[in-house]
Amino acid sequence: MSMLVVEGGTPLEGGVYVHGAKNAALPILAATVLGNGVSVVHNCPNITDVNAAVNILNHLGCRAFRDGDSVIVDSSDVCRWDIPESMMREMRSSVMFLGAILARCGKADITYPGGCELGPRPIDLHLKALEKLSIRIDEKLGRINCRACKARGSEISLDMPSVGATENIMLAAVTAKGETVIVNAAQEPEIVDLQNFLNCMGAKIHGGGTNVITIQGVEQLYGCEYTVIPDRIETVTYMAAAGITGGRLSINNVIPEHVQAVASVMKCAGCDIMHGESRIDISAPPRLKSVDYIRTMPYPGFPTDAQAIIMAMLSVSQGVSVFSENIFSGRFKHVPALTMMGANIITEGRTAIVRGVNRLYGASVKAEDLRGAAALVVAALNAEGKTEISGINYLDRGYCNLENALSSVGANIYRCKKENEI
Ligand code: EPZ
Repeated sequence: MSMLVVEGGTPLEGGVYVHGAKNAALPILAATVLGNGVSVVHNCPNITDVNAAVNILNHLGCRAFRDGDSVIVDSSDVCRWDIPESMMREMRSSVMFLGAILARCGKADITYPGGCELGPRPIDLHLKALEKLSIRIDEKLGRINCRACKARGSEISLDMPSVGATENIMLAAVTAKGETVIVNAAQEPEIVDLQNFLNCMGAKIHGGGTNVITIQGVEQLYGCEYTVIPDRIETVTYMAAAGITGGRLSINNVIPEHVQAVASVMKCAGCDIMHGESRIDISAPPRLKSVDYIRTMPYPGFPTDAQAIIMAMLSVSQGVSVFSENIFSGRFKHVPALTMMGANIITEGRTAIVRGVNRLYGASVKAEDLRGAAALVVAALNAEGKTEISGINYLDRGYCNLENALSSVGANIYRCKKENEI
């Protein structure tokens, strides 16, 4: 397995470019199953989770392939409604295909999805919602078998604003009979992107970005051409890289409004942030101030996906910062590795207390999940000496060539094969 090697201490200076959003591209690629024709999805990040989605599309009988920054999908000949466990296990987003396959084929046969280990990640809200759409669900021997001659629209009130469940309901309901209303829907920008893509295909959905989404069932959807929004968590990663190195970065191809909650934390920490329509200019002081209290919340609150990254950045700030992780019960897996690098962090349940230290020091550390991997890269950019980060297969799930972008603005970082690896 390869790893990243980082010599920390250089303030980053220059411009970086943000790619398309992983968490928008994945449900949109699942939605192409509904097109019954050719869809062209631009600004699709070249990451392993997108490759996994392309493999599932080809398994279902689509012809899907990457053409530069775009993925082209011809779903005219969808002929399967099952997804093998090996493909389901690749990522959490494989569960998005459930709603899409049901809407296209009227039946589906899948297993539980994979994804980063962030604590329990059930899909009970997904399945309960699909049953409200008159879809029959049988679970046996680890497989989930769904049948619906025709899904029927319904009002669905989610116990919590689950991103995945909201997306699955939208996908399953677009060709259902009648109207579906999702109450307590997730409001993330990726939900709005999925709504816009589906409407581009001929769906009739409105309310995306609010907590009530209405879907009028239509007979037929068509392939379309669409450009995915920029990745707000990649944007945050570059902001944190500037913050922890006392650097100045121009971050291009962003939607500033999507990172508002994190920008206000960065300003509290002492950074200057200016933004244009699609660019953020951030400059950081030699040492950041701590931020008293950061609570992860559903959008537009502070995003859980930024928690590890910002915790790494504040581990060298002046003072004490307290984090509470309110979305996932097991999302502090990056703390032991940060501690090995000299951070002073105590966790208790869903709370982490971060006492800022002057500087981190290089160590050999292993990533345990995607955003934890990004957090270790951010920490290593500050650390004195060499840091070796393994487990970067997690990083490659959500970032394409992060090391190239960081070295283009002065970071001393490279990817190499771990010693005595073949
Ligand atoms: C999506 O995951 C994102 N993944 C996650 O990003 C993100 O952290 C999360 O939303 C929250 O914003 C993708 O979009 C591919 P949820 P998802 O359903 O849909 C519980 C990353 O790093 N829950 O909103 O799985 C669940 O356990 C990834 O890019 C149920 O209890 O998140 C969690 O505690 C990590 N039952 C909470 O809801 C269900 O049926 C939020 O989950 C579904 C969820």
